Parts: sequence; structure tokens; C-alpha cells
Amino acid sequence: MSNNGEREQWGSKIGFILAAAGSAIGLGNIWRFPYITGQNGGGAFVVVYVAIVFIIGFSVMLAEVAIGRRAQLNAVGSFKKLKGGAWAIVGWMGVAAGFIILSYYGVIGGWTIKYIISSWTGLMEAGAAGKAGDVFGGFVSNTFQVVFYQALFMLATIWVVYRGIGEGIEKYCKILMPALFVILLILIARSLTLDGAGKGVEFYLKPDLSKITGDTVLAALGQAFFSLSLGMGCMITYGSYLNKETTIPSAVVQICFLDTMVALLAGLVIFPAAFAFGVEAGAGAGLTFVTLPSVFSKMPGGPLWSSLFFLLVFIAALTSAISLLEVVAAYFIDEMNWGRQKAAWLMGLAIFLLGIPSAYSLTGNFKIAGKDFLDAADFLASNILLPLGGLFIALFVGWIWTEGARKEVSNDGTYHFNIMEAWIWVCRTIAPIAIAIIFWQGLRW
Ligand code: TRP
Repeated sequence: MSNNGEREQWGSKIGFILAAAGSAIGLGNIWRFPYITGQNGGGAFVVVYVAIVFIIGFSVMLAEVAIGRRAQLNAVGSFKKLKGGAWAIVGWMGVAAGFIILSYYGVIGGWTIKYIISSWTGLMEAGAAGKAGDVFGGFVSNTFQVVFYQALFMLATIWVVYRGIGEGIEKYCKILMPALFVILLILIARSLTLDGAGKGVEFYLKPDLSKITGDTVLAALGQAFFSLSLGMGCMITYGSYLNKETTIPSAVVQICFLDTMVALLAGLVIFPAAFAFGVEAGAGAGLTFVTLPSVFSKMPGGPLWSSLFFLLVFIAALTSAISLLEVVAAYFIDEMNWGRQKAAWLMGLAIFLLGIPSAYSLTGNFKIAGKDFLDAADFLASNILLPLGGLFIALFVGWIWTEGARKEVSNDGTYHFNIMEAWIWVCRTIAPIAIAIIFWQGLRW
């Protein structure tokens, strides 16, 4: 049931933090966060979101990392080892969720590659003529092209995962994550100095607390969950490569902080620019792939800014996709005794194939229960499997493996975690209840 040699480990605490932050920071931060914020009233949503990240998100992430480091195994093996019985199902659900999420994540990741290139080949001209939407529509209706870029994206993902933990994931995250920060800062400087940017800043950063409703809180909960890569054993798997000396709570705080920073910075790129050019803040998926090219086209050096931005989104999506494939690969490596190379390539290929129906469904011709296949896959994973997984992970620490969790988080009693009891309490009650609410809300098809 396990590999025989010594388990690979992150080279350092900062290596782990950057890799886990690389998992958390993805399309969820740069594309989904601004659009959900735009649709939920701006500043007030941001306040609720940040509060939820640091109460519930922090607690569930701490639970996942503790489980993984104690068991030193993949999501399924960890539950088998620590408790056994039906708890392995939580890990199984996680592997299934990783498989499904990556199938369409790869499709959207492919768009970012397409847009890096298109920035230099006509996207700016189309944007200047108000036709960025047509370019996007034309692209996604050409399934062959979409699948081609999806394949490129998946190849990049597989390549990093098969290189292994220290050599692959950690090494690339160490280079890619700081690069992402730098590019974001450059884009913010550009965005904030546009005429009329102030209104966007106000919308984004001035909370109008009267706009907080039940729906706002639910949207914030769901976004926090997806953005932090929680609920499917991703952080269990990454935690399993963590050495015993690292203090987990401080690492988890930093991961939550970095993820939130990137989301907030992405909003600082998008809202000032959107308001400066009269673009609807709640435009949804179009905000990134349709609206921003028009915005860039009106900027001096448009192709450069546009390609930099989509390169940023590509980097973020890649480091997230790596973590999704790693969850699936680690399961086959630990539980089936597969080699890393075989696991990465075979599972990467299978996931790529499962993504093709999602790519095709962008033409609007492939629906399941009234939803495009891609949306249906996202619904099944994000609204059913992830909330259920997170619910059980919190319950596991709060009620089943509580003493083990205390030991693991305190490094066998050598480290004093001063909010230990508050954390256990959140895992017992607040987190399961809140997640259950998202779950039921999500089930409203
Ligand atoms: N968090 C990533 C994003 O924001 C996506 C992601 C990667 C994810 N791994 C995950 C989401 C595990 C849920 C669970 O884009």
C-alpha cells in the first residue's frame, strides 16, 4: 500500500508555503474573485470574504495539512491510516473531484495560452473596434483550437508533476510565484494611473455594509473554499510532503494571506481599469477574456500589457493545475504502487480526454440537464464534492481525530499553538454548519 523508499519532502518551509500558495492562487483569484466581487456589490463583499478566509478557510486548511503530515500519505491513504473504515470515502471523493476539476480547468488554462499569443495577433485591434467578444466567441466555437491549447496546458502540467516534488513543483513555484507578484504590481501601477480609475477603487475598497445579505455571505464562503483549494485533499497531499519540524499554523496563515493578497491585487488591476473604460463590473466570465482585451487595446503598449496579464493568469492556473494532478497522481503512486512518471502521464492523459467534452460544450451544443457539460462538471465538483469533502474534513478533526490533530499541530507538544481550542471549536461547529449551508445553497441547480 505504500512506496518503499523514503517519501520525498519539500526542501524548506518556504518551499512548501510557495507550492501551497501556488495551488490556492489560480483562476479562482484572478478571474473568479473579481467577477464575484463585482456581482456582489464590491467593498462589502471583500470585507466578508476576508473574514471568512481567516476563520473558516484557515481552520479547514490547518485540518487538511495536519492530516496529511501525520499520515504522510495521499488523501485516501491518510484517512485509511488515521481512522480507516468509511472515512476513506472522503479521500476517494477528493481524488474524483481533482480529476473532474482539472478536466475543465485545463480547458480554461488553455484559453490563457491562446490569449498570450492573441495579444500580439489581432486581439488589440478587435478590442479597439469593440469586437473582443466576437474574438472570444469565435475562439471557443472552434473546438479543435480549444482542445489544442488545452493539450498544451495539460502537457505543461504533466511535465512539472512528473519531475517530482523537489525537482518539479517546488522549483517552478519558487520562480513562478514571485514573478506573478511582480507582474501584478506592474499592472496595478498601470491600472491605477488611468483616467477615471478612482471610481473603480471606490467601488472596490469602500464597503457599503448595507449591501451584505445572506447571498453575499454564501457567495463569499463558496469563493473562499474554491480559492484556497480546500475540500478535496489537496492540502492533505501537500502536507504529506512537509517535514516534522515545520510549524503548521504559521505556514497556513501565510498561505491564506498570500492567496488573499493576490485576489485583492487582481481586483486592484481589474476594477480601476473597468471603471475607467466604462466596463460593467459584474460582467462575469467576460470580465477577463472579453473585457480586459478591450481595456488593454486602449492603453499605450496594449499588446505588452495584455500578454503580461494573460501570462500571469497562465502561471497562476498552471500552479493550481499541478496541485490538482498531484492529488490524483499521489493516490496512484501510494495506493497502487505506480511510478511517478506513469501516474503523471497516464492520469494526465485520462483527465485531458475527460476535458474534451467540456471543450466541445463551449460551442453550446452539448448540454446535461440544461447546463453546458463544462458547467455541469464544475457544478458536480465545486458545489457537491468539495463542500461535502470540507464538511467531513472539519468533522474528522473536530470529533474523530481530535487528540491526533492537537498533537500534530503542536509538533508533539513542542510548539504552543495559542488558539488551539478555538480552532478545534471552529472545526467542531462553525465550519461544518457554514459549509453545510453552502452545500444546500449549491444544490439549488
Ligand atoms: N484554488 C485554485 C484556484 O483558485 C483551484 C484549485 C486548485 C482548487 N486545487 C484545488 C480548488 C483544490 C479546489 C480544490 O484557481
